[in-house]
Amino acid sequence: MRRAVCPGSFDPVTNGHVDVIIRAAALYDELVVAVLVNPGKAGLFGVQERMTLLREAVVELPNVSVDSFEGLLVDYCRANDVPVIVKGLRAVGDFEYELQMAQMNRELAGVETLFVPTAPQVGHLSSSLVKQIATFGGDVSRLVPKGVNDRLLAMGMGSAT
Ligand code: PNS
Repeated sequence: MRRAVCPGSFDPVTNGHVDVIIRAAALYDELVVAVLVNPGKAGLFGVQERMTLLREAVVELPNVSVDSFEGLLVDYCRANDVPVIVKGLRAVGDFEYELQMAQMNRELAGVETLFVPTAPQVGHLSSSLVKQIATFGGDVSRLVPKGVNDRLLAMGMGSAT
């Protein structure tokens, strides 16, 4: 059984995340999307809501599950017998930090990292930009799964036009 974890903050999940999840799910028997619980950072959405929005976004992918973790990612990998981390890489700006984390995670626990280059159509997406645009009433419906856009609209953010 080939298992991998796709970790992140997912505050909220974007179409860029979904692209990476779909492609990683095709490479492994089981893919766990794991939301970081960061007690020091509240975020726009709570962890439970991020997980709900993720579950809605991956509902059609039978080998994908959604979980959360606190602390070191490698401890989560060890506890759940997951040997591979999957990360999306957008542009060169992501690379330096991601490479450092990948090397450190391998040193800490022998966990490998697979980088998936994001599709060019979603390479400019980030949760932070989505939140910024939605906060100021911009339309993010093409950038996020429908469930996320609906939730933002319900919170008085984004734009229905
Ligand atoms: O979506 P993000 O915020 O870019 O995801 C970053 C994340 C959660 C993958 C990363 O911060 C992480 O792995 N955090 C867990 C703590 C940890 O293991 N730190 C050591 C990394 S070498």
